[in-house]
Amino acid sequence: MNQTIDNLINHVSVRNFTDESITEDQKKQLVAAAQSGSTSEFVQAFSLIEITDPQLRKQISDITVSSPHVQKADTFYIFVADLNRQATMLKANNLSLDSLKNMESLLVATVDTTIAAQNMATAAESMGLGICYIGSIRNNIQQVAKLLELPKFTFPLFGMTIGVPAVKNQPKPRLFIQNQVATNTYDSQAFNDLTKYDQEVRKYYANRRTNSQDTTWTEKNLTMFDHIHRPEVASFLKEQGFSLN
Ligand SMILES: Cc1cc2nc3c(=O)[nH]c(=O)nc-3n(C[C@H](O)[C@H](O)[C@H](O)COP(=O)(O)O)c2cc1C
Repeated sequence: MNQTIDNLINHVSVRNFTDESITEDQKKQLVAAAQSGSTSEFVQAFSLIEITDPQLRKQISDITVSSPHVQKADTFYIFVADLNRQATMLKANNLSLDSLKNMESLLVATVDTTIAAQNMATAAESMGLGICYIGSIRNNIQQVAKLLELPKFTFPLFGMTIGVPAVKNQPKPRLFIQNQVATNTYDSQAFNDLTKYDQEVRKYYANRRTNSQDTTWTEKNLTMFDHIHRPEVASFLKEQGFSLN
């Protein structure tokens, strides 16, 4: 196994950081990695906003509720899905913005932004840094957009905290290969046969260094999906110019 794959397989989200700072050179490398990912039709539909203002950090951290490390991490980026440049170009050429509004364009921007973020995550982990995605900025997506002064055809997809790890959990066991990988056609039976995996996850949570729990993957998902999350995201996206059609 080479070093890159070893790093990928040993990924864990880090929520406890030391006070050490990331150097400007490291940040440049992280940004270059994010910018270098594949991008649908070369549209590069994302922007990165680093949050350095402590007051702004506090405001965003409060919105996340569950992620106080947003305030403490050395570095915090917000990944903005962004088709505003294309909107500006189209307007300047008196062309319709309809092609930016549909669900396909929304997916393009979401995917481009996610690829950039994962490139940054991989780069950070290759330097021995720890990262955590922060989707909970969408607890109040409208307010985050306001704080960042986001224009139309953009939305804050998630944040990412980066720093030197103080505490690292064991990697979380992923679905067994037979639960997730098939050949030629979807294997409903194997993909839903989760008893053994649930046992594995129960063991992981019982033995975890921090926040140990008695639960399974199935139980976690039942709790996760027993209610609708952030229904207001759809109306916010409409305000930003997306039709969701
Ligand atoms: C898009 C996305 C959003 C996430 N949002 C949060 C978050 O708001 N707060 C947090 O503590 N972890 C967040 N996470 C981290 C996940 O909880 C974590 O990746 C998952 O539990 C698997 O654990 P691992 O990354 O340690 O393997 C997020 C992960 C992703 C991919």
